[in-house]
Amino acid sequence: MRNPPIRCFRDLSNLYGPLMHLKLGECNTVVVSSPELAKQMLKDLDPSFADRVQNVACRIIWYDGSDVAFSPYGEYWRQMRKLCINDLLNPKMVRLFQSIREEESARLVESLRESSGSPVNFTEKLFFCTSSITCRAAFGSICKDRERLLKMMVDSMSLIGGFDMVDLFPSSKIISALSWRKLRLLHTMRRELDVILDDIIDRHKRNSAESGGRKEGNSEFGGEDLVDVFLRAMEEEDLKFPIDKSNIKAVLLDMFSAGTDTSATTIDWTMVELMRNPGVMAKVQAEVRQALNANMGADNDLKYLNLVIKETLRLHPAILMLPRSCNEEQLINGYTIPAGSMVMVNIWAMHRDPRYWKDPERFNPERFESGNLNFIGGDFKYLPFGFGRRMCPGLAFGLANVEVALVQLLYNFDWKLPEGVRAEDLDMIENVAITSTRKQNLLVVATPYK
Ligand code: HEM
Repeated sequence: MRNPPIRCFRDLSNLYGPLMHLKLGECNTVVVSSPELAKQMLKDLDPSFADRVQNVACRIIWYDGSDVAFSPYGEYWRQMRKLCINDLLNPKMVRLFQSIREEESARLVESLRESSGSPVNFTEKLFFCTSSITCRAAFGSICKDRERLLKMMVDSMSLIGGFDMVDLFPSSKIISALSWRKLRLLHTMRRELDVILDDIIDRHKRNSAESGGRKEGNSEFGGEDLVDVFLRAMEEEDLKFPIDKSNIKAVLLDMFSAGTDTSATTIDWTMVELMRNPGVMAKVQAEVRQALNANMGADNDLKYLNLVIKETLRLHPAILMLPRSCNEEQLINGYTIPAGSMVMVNIWAMHRDPRYWKDPERFNPERFESGNLNFIGGDFKYLPFGFGRRMCPGLAFGLANVEVALVQLLYNFDWKLPEGVRAEDLDMIENVAITSTRKQNLLVVATPYK
């Protein structure tokens, strides 16, 4: 499928309505494209729609879907999600990691300075920056295989985001046999992942053993990092659902992918939109520079920057459709949704629907000035972090990454596109993947501001 599914589904729902049943192969697929229906599913009937679909790629790469993002709704999922929130994603931890964010953003600024006016692959640098932040916060340091892990993350995101024949015809032995190339690729990736993730875990065990109990953990801040917490949980006997090493690896991969990809993608789209809208760029740079020049620091309430981020996440939500599954038969608007249906809430389409947004294709941060649309949901026409039990637990972590990096980038450089590239010609099409990465990397020329 070359055209991203979100666009096909939006066009189809313009013809057939906001609740569509598609029979994709053997799979019942329900596509939802209106705030009213999203509210019914994600709020009123949340437990019934809090499951996830597990496709073949997810089962092989994400250790049978035993991570947080893909695991079935239930006690195991609750336990793993709670551990991640307690030890990585809660507001206190997010504040603790501020120095990591600032150091890695400063490193990004330095590497852009070194480009001394030549075009640079900005997207690639961003992924380096956000992956460093995630590694240091979750694994205690930048793992030596970070580059390989990054490459595998990008590949796996596209493998789980498409609609493959092997997923659409799960009972067909012929299709499974014909898909041997893909299955072989997935198994090779999984073996490579095993080596990298085993190494991260073994390093933690070794460090703890060598310290002879003197060190509390491997975090940069002296205590335990997420890997230590899960290793300790594995040894403890009072865990409701005992976990093993594969479960830990699944969660580490989850945190690395979710923490790296979504933040980098959001910063990338913000810069693309700012390049295409010089008036907005000038206004947001003026705000950031005024605040920093007056020594107010990046913690200052940068109101316009906040609107810019909101508007970016409207047009380019990092996760394009909320991937849910229905765990019991339900009735929505008089239609029966069979148990086991794959449910896609097309937030990308809802964020651009002219019935809910004036001039929806225009990048206009001011539209968020009035009203109280926020990130935590409540108004179902705007759901960049999802809603309900499966809502994104990394909201604060992700937003902090995006804000800190943007402040540094907007303060330190003036931006233009390479010679001969016009802003209006930038390709605005997303990859066919679960996240909304742009098909093309952004190349820019960064000129130091002072
Ligand atoms: C700009 C940044 C981010 C955006 C826009 C974003 C968006 C989302 C969305 C839309 C979902 C699906 C929610 C649903 O089904 O209702 C999600 C799930 C998730 N996100 Fe994020 N996310 C971001 C950053 C992060 C970060 C930094 C982490 C962790 C380090 C993270 C971890 C997760 C996890 C584990 C899930 C699955 C939750 C579950 O199934 O219980 N996210 N995210």
